[in-house]
Amino acid sequence: MCGIVGYIGEDQAAPILLNGLEKLEYRGYDSAGVAVCDGGSIQVEKCKGRLKVLADLIDQGEKIPGTVGIGHTRWATHGKPSDLNSHPHVSGQGKFAVVHNGIIENHLMLKEFLLKQGKQFLSETDTEVVAHLLEYYYQGDVLDAIIQVLHQVEGSYALGILCEDIPDQIFAVRKQSPLIIGLGQHENFIASDIPAILSKTREIYRLENNEIAQIKKDQVMIYDLEKNIVQKERCHIDWDISAAEKGGYEHFMFKEIMEQPKAIADTIQPRIQEGRIVLDDMTLTKEDLEQFRKISIVACGSAYHVGVVAKYVIEKLTRIPVDIDVASEFRYRNPIIDEKVLVIVISQSGETADTLAALHEAKRLGARVLSIVNVVGSAIANESDDVLYTWAGPEISVATTKAYSTQLTVVYLLAVYMADLMGLISRQEYQGYLDDLCHLPGQIEMILKKKDQLQTLASRYFNAKDIFFIGRNIDYAMSLEGSLKLKEISYIHSEAYAAGELKHGTISLIEDGTLVVALATQDTLFEKMMSNVQEVTARGAVVLGLTTEDHPEMEKSATHTFYIPKTNDLMLASLAVIPLQLFAYYVASMKGCDIDKPRNLAKSVTVE
Ligand code: AGP
Repeated sequence: MCGIVGYIGEDQAAPILLNGLEKLEYRGYDSAGVAVCDGGSIQVEKCKGRLKVLADLIDQGEKIPGTVGIGHTRWATHGKPSDLNSHPHVSGQGKFAVVHNGIIENHLMLKEFLLKQGKQFLSETDTEVVAHLLEYYYQGDVLDAIIQVLHQVEGSYALGILCEDIPDQIFAVRKQSPLIIGLGQHENFIASDIPAILSKTREIYRLENNEIAQIKKDQVMIYDLEKNIVQKERCHIDWDISAAEKGGYEHFMFKEIMEQPKAIADTIQPRIQEGRIVLDDMTLTKEDLEQFRKISIVACGSAYHVGVVAKYVIEKLTRIPVDIDVASEFRYRNPIIDEKVLVIVISQSGETADTLAALHEAKRLGARVLSIVNVVGSAIANESDDVLYTWAGPEISVATTKAYSTQLTVVYLLAVYMADLMGLISRQEYQGYLDDLCHLPGQIEMILKKKDQLQTLASRYFNAKDIFFIGRNIDYAMSLEGSLKLKEISYIHSEAYAAGELKHGTISLIEDGTLVVALATQDTLFEKMMSNVQEVTARGAVVLGLTTEDHPEMEKSATHTFYIPKTNDLMLASLAVIPLQLFAYYVASMKGCDIDKPRNLAKSVTVE
């Protein structure tokens, strides 16, 4: 996510803004900028790169006079990292400067309207439309202009706004993306996150959705969209910096597990417009899809596990054969790839060496490459023919959770989009898939509310020496991810097995008390899975059954049962993964492991 900071008071603003942005660096970003009002015009300094580049550019802020300003660290979603795409963005006549965190979902339509009004755009960002719209609606009252703009824009946003006509005020707006007001003595602040202002004040207002703050150095007024004054309760923050960076949670991983409903909504919403899937700059045509003789999916680690799910989903909906490979194998096995193959590359970081090398091999062999990536402007994104971004925001914890989950949702969108393009699903089926997709965030929220059940289970098994995960079809793919999550953060040995394979060897490892996590979410295979559960319990295993709410019979055979809501079988991976993430997290937490930075692991494996 982007980082927002604002200051209004009696001190020079720029150094304070830089200090605040520094406290938000942990969130991940690719560029930074500030806008400062010095009584008259607004001065904007911004550039691609680390905050230090900006700080050096403006002599640590000393070069910019003025006691009112806004600052921003950008995590690119629309438009690659560049000086011009950095925030703040300025309106055509320079009257408004805007910083933004979130996604303006209807920015293309608004940009088209503004271009017709003769507005000149300098950047590729969605945010710039806000600056131009403010100037378009401004008739002398900034609050009125803001309200009119908010009636036009759709999506999620936290906005910091300066207007050169009112140099003693900052305006702030919130819808979905967090924004707080820091309350000082003859000075006030805005910030997208508490760490940015904690060194200055512990007293805050939390802006709620559709609230607008008008901030002076000695007064803060909050309005709703009808210009009614909103009374706010002061909140006192007693977190330390470390807790504040994690949103009050103990670890980034837990924070990111909890962020999954929003990350999935952010990834889906902008791509469903008027009941249709809209895949940004997708260039794949019906003819392309019909001439592909197969799809080859390549990735590493958890991204590979997304690929295993994708094989089941894409084959089911498009009937195009799908291969799936770990990148380190694909790149050296002289794969049978040519121009009649679509290679899908999945990577959170977009920098994984093996995956990038596999992409190069695929292109060398003439394949069309589509990538699913979380980092805009990353190497894999830049070298693909098509890119579908996940909008999970920066993922700090080495063990991926929200990036994994948003990759799954992009797979569902892509599979339904392709099946529809090929005329393979009815209008009713299409709508059904979209409805199921849009219900996922709420269903995940329901599962997260039951996290204590996983904590209790973890407290019973965190000293286990071996834990097995078994499943069939998509549940096998989920077993792979559940096992990896557990291994990489708790260091407990774990195996993931296709349940039907157990009797071909591995079942010899099952003995009294061995914990087996049995995933049985796929309706058509539930009875088969129950047989596998009985197979392992007959040999002394303790079974944690993970199934949907309509299969209470799991309790007859499993020692413990965790239920997830029912949805389309193809999308159940998005629900089943949540208890697996939580179980791994609680086990590792009870073992006192370094959850966000597990031993021997890196967030992005940029070497072979
Ligand atoms: C997942 O929890 C691991 N951190 C790891 O397996 C990761 O998924 C893998 O290294 C691939 O990374 P990427 O998605 O950035 O390419």
